[in-house]
Amino acid sequence: MEGVTWTGFSAVLRARQSKRCFLDRPVSRRVLEKVLRAAAHAPSTRNGQPWQVAVVSGSSRDALARRLCADFDHGLEPKPDYPNRPARPDETTAARAREAGAGVLRAKGIAREDRAARRTHVRDNLRFYGAPVEMIFHLPADAPPGLFLEMGLFLENVMLALVACGLGSCPQYSVAGHADSIRDELGLGADRLIVCGLAVGYPDESMAVNRFRPRRAVPAEYVQWHGRQPPETGSAG
Ligand SMILES: Cc1cc2nc3c(=O)[nH]c(=O)nc-3n(C[C@H](O)[C@H](O)[C@H](O)COP(=O)(O)O)c2cc1C
Repeated sequence: MEGVTWTGFSAVLRARQSKRCFLDRPVSRRVLEKVLRAAAHAPSTRNGQPWQVAVVSGSSRDALARRLCADFDHGLEPKPDYPNRPARPDETTAARAREAGAGVLRAKGIAREDRAARRTHVRDNLRFYGAPVEMIFHLPADAPPGLFLEMGLFLENVMLALVACGLGSCPQYSVAGHADSIRDELGLGADRLIVCGLAVGYPDESMAVNRFRPRRAVPAEYVQWHGRQPPETGSAG
């Protein structure tokens, strides 16, 4: 396809990493609109396009961050609208989660036994890691699993499009733990389900945490080949 190269495409894929520290630099509405328009090219069953996203910036962003941090400071238990992992994750998944979590803390210079600093890190999620924009992705309250799949396609497109505009992001299930407060702050009804947040801004690349790259599994760990695959014929890279 014209204009599309494997090198360019894979560079965008690899450049998308979760960013957890942002510059104090606003993001223009024009750029955000461009990103969201492009992201909406995501496929969906019979073109239903079930995704909705609240783009929260300026004083609304500050008010939302204040509200979620107040929840946290008052010891409110997170109460997301849906679970994001099995009750008993398999050991491989659990080990990866431990490794990624430890890596983020290490990159932030937080020792494992420093409970206060770890708590501050968790709270940092609720101020969107200092990002000037927080996106809140939501679905109908009765969304079946298929709609979450379609939201995921849209969300990844948003994250990749942000990269192509020089922006960074961090998806945030932690934010969805405050679904009731989010609905209240944003005027969303009980008929909306909060899927996740996305911190968006210009990443501060001088911070080590923004260079942390959790290890990826190799295909042998997640691919099952069936049948015979022919040898390479084209130039697919
Ligand atoms: C749906 C979803 C929710 C996530 N929630 C959080 C979160 O609440 N806080 C956070 O710091 N990272 C969160 N992450 C980021 C993951 O930790 C990250 O994607 C993973 O470790 C892989 O790292 P990478 O994104 O840098 O490639 C989330 C990612 C996804 C896809």
